[in-house]
This record gives sequence, structure tokens and C-alpha cells, in this order.
Amino acid sequence: MATDSIDLWRQLKSHLESLRRAGLLDIPIGSWEPPALIKPIRTQPSQSENLIDLSPVVAAVLRPPEAPRIEVVQKPAEPVSRPSTAPAKRPPSAAQPPVPSTFALYRKPFEMHVIPINERLQVLTSLAAEVACCERCPELASTRTQTVFQSGSPTARLMFVGEAPGADEDRLGEPFVGRAGQLVTDIITKGMGLSRSEVYIANVLKCRPPENRTPSNTEMANCVGYLDRQIEIVRPEFICLLGKVAVTALLQTSLPMKSLRQRWFRYREIPTMVTYHPAYLLYNPPAKKETWDDLKMLMKEMGISPPPKAS
Ligand code: URA
Repeated sequence: MATDSIDLWRQLKSHLESLRRAGLLDIPIGSWEPPALIKPIRTQPSQSENLIDLSPVVAAVLRPPEAPRIEVVQKPAEPVSRPSTAPAKRPPSAAQPPVPSTFALYRKPFEMHVIPINERLQVLTSLAAEVACCERCPELASTRTQTVFQSGSPTARLMFVGEAPGADEDRLGEPFVGRAGQLVTDIITKGMGLSRSEVYIANVLKCRPPENRTPSNTEMANCVGYLDRQIEIVRPEFICLLGKVAVTALLQTSLPMKSLRQRWFRYREIPTMVTYHPAYLLYNPPAKKETWDDLKMLMKEMGISPPPKAS
């Protein structure tokens, strides 16, 4: 009973926060706590305790390359519940240069007003046209068939962020349409009871890296500003990061996946969670169970239930 009340409280708070982000409500909600009488006994930290303020988190190049740097955080932002005794360090890499300074971390909500729903498609279309001409990464620009910008709804409540197009995506011009994409589709439809057209899907990189190699830090820095603008335009209520590259690009942390799952971060005020990349699940099927746990956490916060067969 008490737990139900807390859940209702959380959902109400989440919806009010969405309204506030959309500029439809002008009252501070962040510090609202459920009434003491209905505080449940918990074995795990509550969602609000677990909601880590990673708004610090990133958005490297806001409007690359001319974006001004607003606030640079000297070290990667870390979850508040794992405090500072052992700050995470980026492993030294002989192969790659450090992440460029355009990856500066911002503790800033979006400054641009929310784009009216009926204008979003047009704004995204012109951004996609800009991306289609991009030549910031000469190798990718010369090897791609086409850029791969987005899939789904510009008014989606939920945005999935993957790594980069693969061969199928490069050929078809749509994110997550290959084998890993089938898994994403299953997650959305069979797992969450939504359709692909109800969510928004994008990648950190808009071009396929040759041989599907991992994107370099420079490529991520060149491209992440486009993703940031997609997020700014769509303004989803929730973001789900699929795998390490999405985490590196948006959350700027080197923590291992196991300590990033099952908790909430904030990317520019938007509640953001992390789960495994679907390609990892293809060769490590036991991890599907953990992914399912992550999705349940997400659905709970979104106030939606899995379809009967999935539960
Ligand atoms: N396809 C995509 O669009 N993104 C990925 O990260 C993997 C496959």
C-alpha cells in the first residue's frame, strides 16, 4: 500500500517535471518529497536518492564547431552515491589521443526554448540535411554510403542512443535495422509494448566507421554535438543509452557498465539510464536478463507496463 503510494508519487513528480521542462509549469519540483507517513521501508536506494545529477554531463560540442564553452568540469562526473574516495580515471591509451576539449562537461540545462511539436520535424529535417553534408571526419565521410540520422517520433517520450551505424544501417539510412537492430525492435515492441515509431532512435556517430570499428574519441567529439541538438529538439522525457560509446559521449565516465546500470543519471536534466548494447547481447545472451531488469526500471519510471507476454 505504502509502496504503491510512493510509486504514484514518483510518477506524479516525473510528469510534473516533464511539464516543467516543457515550459508548461512554473514551480520548482526537484525537492518535493513524499509525505513522511507513506515512506516505505526500502532495501535499495529510492529512485530519487538514486537520481544522480549528471547534468554536468556533457554535451560536448553544442553547436560544433562554434559553440562557446560554458563550464568545464575538471574530472568526469560521477554518481553521487559512489563518492569521491576513488574518483574514476580514464585508462591511459597509447592508441588514441585523449578526448578533445570540445568534450567539455556542462552543468547546464538546455537554453533553447522547447520547439513546438508541429515544428520539430522540420527542424530535425534541416539538421539531418546539415549532417548529410558533414565532412568533419574525412575517413568516415569518404567511406559512408550515406549518413544515418534518426528513426521514430520527434515527440517521443523515450530516446534510445546507440553507437554508430553498421553495414545495414549505412545501406538503408536508418539506425538499428541490422541484427542488433532486430533486438532493439524486440526490446521496444515485445519488451515494452511500444512501437518503433513511438520512440526516437539515434546514434552518437552518424556515419559508419569502416569495418564497424569502435569510433575514435575525435570522431565522437566531432559528432556528439549533432546528437545533443537532436536531444534538444526532441526533448524526450527519458533517455536510454545503449552501451559504452553512448555512455562515453554523453555521460563522460569511465565507470564499468556494471556500475552504471540500474541507476539514474541526468543528461541536461533529462533522466537517463544505461544498459548493454544490443550487439553485446547477441554474443552474450545471458546478459539479456540484466537488460530486462534495466527495462523494467525504465518502464516503472515511465509509468508503463510490459505487454502481458513480456512480464
Ligand atoms: N546499429 C546502429 O544503428 N547503432 C548501433 O549502435 C549498432 C547498430
